[in-house]
Amino acid sequence: MTGYCPIGVFDSGVGGLTVAREILKRVPEGKIIYFGDTAHVPYGGRSSKELINFADKICQFLLEQGAEVIVDACNSTSAVALDFLQRKYPVPIIGVIEPGVAAAVSRTKNGRIGVIATEATINSGAHKKAVEKLGLDITVIGQACPLFVPLVEEGKVQSWEALEAAQKYLKPLQQADIDTLILGCTHYPFLVPVLQKVLGPHVVLVDPAVETVCCLQKVVEELPNRNWTGPHKYFVSGDPAAFKRVGSMLLETYSLPEVEKVVLDWGD
Ligand code: DGL
Repeated sequence: MTGYCPIGVFDSGVGGLTVAREILKRVPEGKIIYFGDTAHVPYGGRSSKELINFADKICQFLLEQGAEVIVDACNSTSAVALDFLQRKYPVPIIGVIEPGVAAAVSRTKNGRIGVIATEATINSGAHKKAVEKLGLDITVIGQACPLFVPLVEEGKVQSWEALEAAQKYLKPLQQADIDTLILGCTHYPFLVPVLQKVLGPHVVLVDPAVETVCCLQKVVEELPNRNWTGPHKYFVSGDPAAFKRVGSMLLETYSLPEVEKVVLDWGD
């Protein structure tokens, strides 16, 4: 079979690159059409109504660009907008919450899972609901970490500010004796060295990108067309130079191609 499958991927900013990186590693027949909504980052403190509107307009854009499957690489929109998007659009749309939960429940030994995420995600209770749906006797302890996304967007992933914030946010989870931690925001895998340093090696960190891309692989295998011949494409709603600079630094071994600014009609 020749040609590629165009995969739409979106997030508020550079966080979705943790999912894009996994796609590049494991879905060779995929081409990424990425949208980082950097004009609106951070998403974490925004209302469900705003997040649904942003996700809706971004999906429209990705479909116009030719996406045949979309990964909502943002926990905050996966938590509040995924059902809406899946009902509205004719292509498969994959979120990051349920794959992250599936990976965590298979790893925990003491049945105590922590979730660190944005305020929007924690307030939605999406991870707790996903665990309840599985009917397992597992306790989920959530912790919002609003300082993390701005630090990652500035590229300050190894800074003393990141360490200090991690110590503060992780303390209640350590006291709750978690043995597994879901990185419930796609920006957070860039903070793994700091998080693991604070928690120690006995706590398993779960990056939902891995399980999400397993789900994506199955969907891509079933898509009949491989007509796409274009390159990977990266779009942002804010400053393309800042995205490229920070994104390239965070991705280390993967280099980002040109990043283009697009102006969407957000309807507000
Ligand atoms: N990376 C996103 C998430 O997974 C959004 C973070 C934000 O913009 O606050 O939730």
